[in-house]
Amino acid sequence: MQQPSDLLAQLYPIAGKTVVVTGAASGIGKAAADMFCQLGAATYYLDANESQNAAAALEAGGEATALPVDLADFAAVEDTFERIEARSGCIDILVNSAALNRSSPSVDQDMDLWRKVLDVNLGAVFLASRLAARSLIRAGRAGSIVNVASVGGLSAATTGRGNPNPSYRASKGGVVNLTRALAIEWAGYGIRVNGVAPGYVRTPMIDRLANDPKRVAETEAKVPLGRIAEPAEIASVIAFLASEGASMITGQTLVVDGGLLA
Ligand SMILES: NC(=O)c1ccc[n+]([C@@H]2O[C@H](COP(=O)([O-])OP(=O)(O)OC[C@H]3O[C@@H](n4cnc5c(N)ncnc54)[C@H](O)[C@@H]3O)[C@@H](O)[C@H]2O)c1
Repeated sequence: MQQPSDLLAQLYPIAGKTVVVTGAASGIGKAAADMFCQLGAATYYLDANESQNAAAALEAGGEATALPVDLADFAAVEDTFERIEARSGCIDILVNSAALNRSSPSVDQDMDLWRKVLDVNLGAVFLASRLAARSLIRAGRAGSIVNVASVGGLSAATTGRGNPNPSYRASKGGVVNLTRALAIEWAGYGIRVNGVAPGYVRTPMIDRLANDPKRVAETEAKVPLGRIAEPAEIASVIAFLASEGASMITGQTLVVDGGLLA
């Protein structure tokens, strides 16, 4: 009879793989990168916050490498992926977690900021995905990409009428449909592309909310499971989607929101 540990190793054969995680210095990206590291992958931590990213990779303990990169700088993204491929060969798993969330009423939206949010949250997801896919196609290997979208990409009503963030919501809606498009385009190569759409997660992105007890209570009252998620609760779903356990899932964005959109 199969031992539970053999089954886990079969479902999560992550050890020895090369994994790249963007936004790995903080929050969900850090939790996902740490999880892959613990599963034995050679994990690349990519983030614009150089010192925090270096500290995150150092703390992770396993085979972790921190690489600073501003994802809005597409030439720098290409250089970074070239460096990773030169060092580790093909990129087996990519997690696109980095993002910016900037509030602004639409009538006042600054267009430079609009462009920056769209570049980081959607443009860099496309670019990093195709760089990983090219490396897999060249190597003739199957692989997996997981994009971190948001319930904000599936609904515009999650925060009510306050806090308008049209650029963020447009970018996250784009991530959901890009996930479908790339999944179809690359299915023939055995490259699966999926997403997660978190609800509220306790990370610096929602510091203003998390530091205001009244808003926390209002938020928890809206979430059927009655609480804000921890980053590890999103990371475990990312690890599942990236693994053999999800070998027949592609093009899907899995909502991880404690029932908010249910
Ligand atoms: N926290 C939530 O409630 C929540 C909800 C839904 C979706 N998400 C999504 O989860 C993902 C992770 O966010 P988080 O909550 O962990 O936030 P976070 O702020 O803790 O982490 C985001 C990371 O992205 C990095 N980053 C931002 N711009 C960058 C750039 N130009 N180049 C490189 N790195 C850059 C930041 O330095 C930071 O380390 C995002 O895609 C976010 O939209 C978060």
